[in-house]
Amino acid sequence: MVTAQREVVAFQHVSKIFDQKTVALKDFHLSINEGEFVSFLGPSGCGKSTALRLAAGLGEASQGEIKVFDKSPQDVIKATNDVAFVFQDANLLPWRTVIDNVLLPLELRGGNKKAHKEEAKRVLEMVGLKDHMKSYPRQLSGGMKMRVSIARALAAKPKMLLMDEPFAALDEITRQTLQMELLDIWRQEKMTILFVTHNVFEAVFLSTRIAVMSARPGRLSSLLDVDLAYPRQLSIRTEKKFTDYVEIASAKLENSSEGKE
Ligand SMILES: Nc1ncnc2c1ncn2[C@@H]1O[C@H](COP(=O)(O)OP(=O)(O)O)[C@@H](O)[C@H]1O
Ligand SMILES: [Mg+2]
Repeated sequence: MVTAQREVVAFQHVSKIFDQKTVALKDFHLSINEGEFVSFLGPSGCGKSTALRLAAGLGEASQGEIKVFDKSPQDVIKATNDVAFVFQDANLLPWRTVIDNVLLPLELRGGNKKAHKEEAKRVLEMVGLKDHMKSYPRQLSGGMKMRVSIARALAAKPKMLLMDEPFAALDEITRQTLQMELLDIWRQEKMTILFVTHNVFEAVFLSTRIAVMSARPGRLSSLLDVDLAYPRQLSIRTEKKFTDYVEIASAKLENSSEGKE
């Protein structure tokens, strides 16, 4: 029996023009199904963040339409906890402890405080910060701050996680560790993840599918299925099937930068 895949995000011929002159996205058309891990890969300024922000209901498309769980992104954000966002900057409140930072969005939503605390503990454990719940952000490394930020996003049990270059500011070793952890969390929580990056290795390592975008005006230049089994270990990076995908994705990226198809 073939089960129909549920569509989570649909970009339907979306264009976004800023200030009537900057074409950040042009005719961007992409459908993403439940459980996928899709990376938006492209050079700086190609509209990756714009696409992600539109899916989060931050701004409106100039042309075309975006559907998230078959509704407008704004409606989904307003009415549910189904979508959470993680930015490159962890954006923690310095005067709040780790657990209080994770609790903040839950507090804002209201509801049972005890249940919130249990949930905050669960997600902090998941990101390996069980022993740092009472620490303050200034006591944490960059990687730990990002873990808090991810825990805060997970606390509301989102069905979809939107991540905008979350690991770009981290050193290579920390970045690799967090990539592994993110894949574990994705599999455990069975979420859909949209992940922005300009790093080809990161895109191949993480994704089920890569959406390669071309430089301005931001277009979807090609889609690449990454047919590598999960769980993926770091050692996969030296295997031929991995380096082959890196080569293919790099070539697509280069072609797209030169404005070719
Ligand atoms: N709020 C905004 N106002 C005006 N121009 C913007 C705004 N946001 C993005 N842009 C422009 O749109 C283009 C795409 O930006 P962005 O989506 O941030 O690219 P990326 O994330 O791929 O680096 C860039 O030229 C950028 O300067
Ligand atoms: Mg960006």
